[in-house]
Amino acid sequence: DWTPGSFVDTTVKELKTKLGNDKVVLGLSGGVDSTVAGVLLNKAIHDNLTCIFVDNGLLRKNEFQTVLDSYKHMGLNVIGVDARKHFLDALAGVSDPETKRKIIGRVFIEVFDREAHKIQNVKWLAQGTIYPDVIESVSVNGPSATIKSHHNVGGLPEEMNLKVVEPLNLLFKDEVRRVGKALGISPALLGRHPFPGPGLAIRILGDITQEKIDILQQVDHIFIQGLKDNELYDRVWQAGAMLLPVQSVGVMGDERTYERVVALRAVESTDGMTADWVHLPYEFLAKVSNDIINKVKGVNRVVYDISSKPPATIEWE
Ligand code: XMP
Repeated sequence: DWTPGSFVDTTVKELKTKLGNDKVVLGLSGGVDSTVAGVLLNKAIHDNLTCIFVDNGLLRKNEFQTVLDSYKHMGLNVIGVDARKHFLDALAGVSDPETKRKIIGRVFIEVFDREAHKIQNVKWLAQGTIYPDVIESVSVNGPSATIKSHHNVGGLPEEMNLKVVEPLNLLFKDEVRRVGKALGISPALLGRHPFPGPGLAIRILGDITQEKIDILQQVDHIFIQGLKDNELYDRVWQAGAMLLPVQSVGVMGDERTYERVVALRAVESTDGMTADWVHLPYEFLAKVSNDIINKVKGVNRVVYDISSKPPATIEWE
């Protein structure tokens, strides 16, 4: 019978045999999958595992530092890389969503590659790929469907000639969470909403600037913190805010304003393939909307997305 505990025991044994005394590198994203993969590998091979966590500047507010600290706290041998400028420069003036994704993927590999080269004698690239990623990358790359050039599969620095190890590639998300729990990873980390690899870049419609990132981080933070404070966070599968490429008229005192619009989105889902918008309480939406408009300079209108997937996708880009 499959239990998270037996999975951990068997996999740790297998990893020890497979990896011996080899050096392994793993990219951490802050998400559940890579975190569980990291802790599992760390249990098997300890400091022969080097983890790399890249700050692309497109994460949630304070996220990089908070998550980096918790990785260190968990005993992972982790290198934090500040690559914010690299990403921002590469994205300057780009509005097309697929182009954004490709640029972010390419820059990530450049940054990761550079760090990985600093590790002597690295033999393996570990990945937190889970079973649905494997299936989806097949269908996404299939002949009929170019849905979105998504996800965590593929894109390794080829000339490094690394062998790939994916200890979670037969697990579903809920199993990964259970394994994470058995490994003693905190519920707060395991219960985190999914967050797209390209991060806020695909939640800023149109081109990306530091100013827009700052605004969206503040808006997102108020929304997500509000969900947590009101015990709504765990009832939602994924939530976030989009910065729209329109401005709208408002009034402040005697003045007319012409400022930005943000959309809030919260969905229920089991796998992200289909999703329903969450009927968040009106009082909650009213409070969050007020907070955003009062506290975030440059935003004068908040809308709530009431579209389900399909046909709308979860992200707006
Ligand atoms: P959509 O917008 O296609 O999103 O309904 C489904 C799920 O996938 C996430 N998503 C991405 N994740 N890279 C990722 O790693 C991406 O480019 C990407 N685009 C969407 C989205 O957040 C949702 O969880």
